[in-house]
Formats: sequence, C-alpha cells, structure tokens
Amino acid sequence: MINKLDNIVVVGQGAMGLLWYHHLSQQNISHSDILNVNKNKKISLLASNQDSLSNDELGTATYQFTAYQQAQEKTYPLTYSQTLDIESAEVIILCLKSFNIAMAVKKIANHISPHCILILAHNGMGTFEDVLNILPSQQVILAMLTTHGCLRNAALAITHTGLGQSDIGLLSGELSLSQQALLTSLLNAALPQVSFHQNIVTKQWLKLAINCVINPITAINNIENGEVNKPKFIKQINELLTEITNVSKTENIDLVLNDLQVIVHKVAQATAKNSSSMRSDVLAGRSTEIDYINGYIHRLGEKNNVATPENTRLWQQVLNLSAPPKG
Ligand code: PAF
Repeated sequence: MINKLDNIVVVGQGAMGLLWYHHLSQQNISHSDILNVNKNKKISLLASNQDSLSNDELGTATYQFTAYQQAQEKTYPLTYSQTLDIESAEVIILCLKSFNIAMAVKKIANHISPHCILILAHNGMGTFEDVLNILPSQQVILAMLTTHGCLRNAALAITHTGLGQSDIGLLSGELSLSQQALLTSLLNAALPQVSFHQNIVTKQWLKLAINCVINPITAINNIENGEVNKPKFIKQINELLTEITNVSKTENIDLVLNDLQVIVHKVAQATAKNSSSMRSDVLAGRSTEIDYINGYIHRLGEKNNVATPENTRLWQQVLNLSAPPKG
C-alpha cells in the first residue's frame, strides 16, 4: 500500500479539476523544501478532449487562473497525463460531473495500479457502485466533498471565487492511520482546509439532501439559491426531506428531519446570491446531475420500497428541462 504520493493525476478540465490541478502543481513548485516532498513529483491533468490535440498542442498547453480575490489572471503551464502517468499514479482525483464518472473510469481502468487511491469528487451519489463494478481490482476509493467556489470563465480558464473546505473519507478498501494522515496533509497543503472523516457517507447524505432541495427548486423556478427560503417552498421542502430521511433509514443512515431543514435553510442563506450548479446547467443547455441527486433517491426508494413521490416528480421535471447526458 502507499507510503509516498509522488504521482497524482487529476481527471477533468472543468472548474474543480483545474482548481485542484493548479494548487497541487503550484504546491509542488513552491513548498517542496518545506514539506520535504520529492521534487520529481508529477502532477498531471487528464482531459476528456486531449486525444484530439496534436503533440505540439499537448507540449505547449497552458491554462489561466485567477486566485481568490485577485483581479489579475495569470497563465500557467499545463501538463496533460499520458498513459504512463496513469499507470504510475498513486492518487487519481476524479473531478467530473457524476454522469461522466463511469465512462471516465472505464477508459483508464486497465491502466490504474491496484495500489492507486481513487478520489471521487462530485455532487450527488450513486457513482461509487458503478465504479466498483468497472475496476478490475479491489481499490481504495474515497469520496471528496468540497465547498470551494470556482467559476470556469472559458475553456482552461478559472477563477477561485470562494474559499471553502474539503472533506474526504473512505468508501472502500483500507488506509492505515498514517496513510490517511499522509494523504490528508498532501491535499491540505495544496488547497486547505482538508479533513479526513471516518464516516464520509453520512456527510455525503447531508450534502445530497441539500442538493435534492436547492438544485431542482432553483433550476425549475429559475431562481437564486436564497429564494428557496421563501415560505411558498416550505411544504415542498418538507416533503422532499421527509422522503430522504425515510430512504436514508433503509440504508442505515440516520438523518434527522429537523437538522436537514436547518442545514438547507443555512446553505440557501449563505449562498443566497448564487446560481446553483443545476440552474446554471439548465440555463446553459447542459446535462444536469439530477439522476445522481433526486434520481438517486427515487432509485433507492424503489429498491427499498419507500415512497418518494416528490423526489421522483422533481427528478422527472428537471430531466424534461435539460439535455440528456452524452455517451
Ligand atoms: O450544486 C450547487 O450549486 C451547490 O452544491 C449548492 C450547495 C446547492 C449551492 O449552490
């Protein structure tokens, strides 16, 4: 199992992928002495479109990054991942939309070392089961939940709009306490604060509940997050959250309705002026993650004989608003 983390592949050229790629590669340059890390550490980015790039384009690629609360955009070199990088990767961070995870893992599954740690970083739930079925060997798989705000201004150009934090934890396989600490300190040194959680699944459910409410309501009504706290949505929110707590119990997750109501209210308030990712996707004519948000609750409800009429209705409504996932 791992005792060094010298080769890291970030999958995904969207806002979160570039944010992690940027901080990991810059940390490599600026703090290698302080952290006593290997200067030959290699951070690379696997982009879905890189097969169409010429050798010249691959060799001279750059990206634009605007740091948090900075006006000036700067240009940095971009190292795309080659097959050898994937084969020697000790950590692969998948920063993709949930509906692209399975396809991306399928493409590289045969090159991933059995000792490599996979980190799934996306909204929603339900990709983990797909990934387990695709991988040829039992792998250490973690989930990462992050609250950093990041905007993609153009292809390969991002702005870090909000400082947040990231929670990581095990979904499958084993990591010793020292390996957990090594991984957490590596990620934390790149883009703080990162904390390791022994029960990341409960945290995933909390995030799922938030997304099951804020995302479809803002997308369907074309409103900013803060408007979700208006009295006219109270009944609908309570129905959604009651169904989610009922489904969670059948998965041995103990969520408390009142806690969820409070958390959803707080997140809507804290992000009042934001456009949710789902609303932004619908407005831009992109596919949404609804299949892995309210759709996930619908599927679990069917599997475990729990009625989820409101989640099912919103899942269908958003599906009708958005483009179907490609692939
Ligand atoms: O998907 C999103 O936009 C975010 O997860 C959240 C929490 C709903 C805030 O906008």
